[in-house]
This record gives sequence, C-alpha cells and structure tokens, in this order.
Amino acid sequence: MLENDVVVEVAKKHRKTPAQVLLRFFVQNGVSVIPKSTNPQRLMENIRIFDFELDPEDVRALRSQDAGEGGRIVRFLFFPGITEHPEYPFPIQF
Ligand SMILES: NC(=O)c1ccc[n+]([C@@H]2O[C@H](COP(=O)([O-])OP(=O)(O)OC[C@H]3O[C@@H](n4cnc5c(N)ncnc54)[C@H](OP(=O)(O)O)[C@@H]3O)[C@@H](O)[C@H]2O)c1
Repeated sequence: MLENDVVVEVAKKHRKTPAQVLLRFFVQNGVSVIPKSTNPQRLMENIRIFDFELDPEDVRALRSQDAGEGGRIVRFLFFPGITEHPEYPFPIQF
C-alpha cells in the first residue's frame, strides 16, 4: 500500500508520506494503529499524523483501494463462551 497510486497522490497533496496517510486514514476512522519501526526517522514520521486531516474525497478514494483481504482481525472464538462475556468487544457485524 505504500506504493499504491492513490495513497501516493493523497500523500503528495498533503505533503506527507504514504505511511503517514495510511496511519492517518485509520486513526481518523476510529481504528487504533500500532506502527512499529526500528528506524528513528520513521518513528518520528509515524507520530506526526495529528497535524493534518484527510478530506472526505481522500477517505473515499482510499477506501476504494480496499483489496478485500480483510486485514488481520482475530475474534478469539476459540475461547469457549467468549461471545457471552459482558466485555466481549465485538458485538457488531463485520
Ligand atoms: N503482528 C501481530 O500480530 C502483533 C500482535 C500483537 C502486537 N503486535 C505489535 O504491533 C507492532 C507492529 O507489528 P507488525 O507485525 O505490524 O510490525 P512489523 O511488520 O514487524 O513491522 C512494521 C514494518 O513497517 C515498516 N515501517 C514502519 N514505519 C514505516 C514508515 N513510516 N514507512 C515505511 N515503512 C515503515 C518497518 O520497517 P522499519 O523498521 O525499517 O522502519 C517494518 O518493516 C509491534 O510493536 C508488535 O509487537 C503485533
């Protein structure tokens, strides 16, 4: 996704990097992201996503790039009775 044409275009528009656009996309849509880097410059880059906002058309364009692979969501259904637990966090449909 770092080389995706739409991501690169949105990044140019906001003078940010593709990684910052992707991180901002998730955070702005209420999804927590845990970026990991061993590179000090990229660590700084990854936190500098709170000084810009993606426009609705950016969000639409980025959303349309969903490859449908589903990401890595774990529902923990292998724990017996998990869905009856009052704090089971996934009552919504995916
Ligand atoms: N994966 C899991 O299932 C899992 C589960 C629980 C917790 N975690 C935690 O979640 C964090 C992330 O895990 P992960 O598996 O997603 O990490 P990862 O795949 O090991 O590392 C992230 C990759 O993104 C690169 N990267 C980071 N910032 C970038 C940037 N701005 N531009 C371009 N490339 C960038 C890093 O390269 P450089 O280092 O060279 O920047 C690294 O190759 C870790 O702290 C991990 O312990 C992961």
